[in-house]
Amino acid sequence: MEFYEVVNKRRSIRQFENREIPHEALERILDAGLKAPSSNHQRRWELLTLTDKSIIYNLAQLVRPYPCRVVEPKTPQQEMFKIAYPRQRSMIEESACVILPFFKQKYPMSEDKNGYGLMDYGATWALVENMLLAATAEGLGSVVHIPVKKEPEKIKEFLKIPDGWYLPTLVMLGYASPDAEVPAQVKATVANKVRWNKW
Ligand SMILES: Cc1cc2nc3c(=O)[nH]c(=O)nc-3n(C[C@H](O)[C@H](O)[C@H](O)COP(=O)(O)O)c2cc1C
Repeated sequence: MEFYEVVNKRRSIRQFENREIPHEALERILDAGLKAPSSNHQRRWELLTLTDKSIIYNLAQLVRPYPCRVVEPKTPQQEMFKIAYPRQRSMIEESACVILPFFKQKYPMSEDKNGYGLMDYGATWALVENMLLAATAEGLGSVVHIPVKKEPEKIKEFLKIPDGWYLPTLVMLGYASPDAEVPAQVKATVANKVRWNKW
């Protein structure tokens, strides 16, 4: 698939078919992630990749579907809340693969003296975006879930992750269900989001 087609095609998919992803495709997606730029060329991330459906199921039980009070969405964000919130657990359960990109912090996240605190976190998101685009190029759907509240600790305990590794997001991959609900996208265009040469 041509690069800009991939960029335009990528959407967050939260309903998946019960179908395995070929191992070679997963390797290509992971490899694309590992090619990402990283702060100070640290590459201080390690990826835990789950393809065992029973482990994925048990992992999903650590994530609670969020309640959503939106009944009649009036904006694309509300439409997204309505689709996404109740599916935070089921989208993990249904996925064929969950990638957990753990990273090590060189500087504390709250470091505000020199602005270095978010570098390792940012580098991990560069890796994640490469994988989301690669998954699209492979004909797969993908979505992220940010572990919140007690989820990071519970996930680390369940997967026996050593101390000192941080988990910014879970990345779910799978073949999109034909009925997958995808909300309208908020318009972000060069015309409405970009200033040229001065603010
Ligand atoms: C930093 C970040 C956090 C996100 N967290 C979640 C999440 O926890 N659960 C979820 O279903 N989607 C999550 N998303 C996906 C967004 O909801 C999605 O990107 C947005 O609604 C636009 O839709 P699109 O990805 O289809 O373009 C997150 C995306 C980003 C970049």
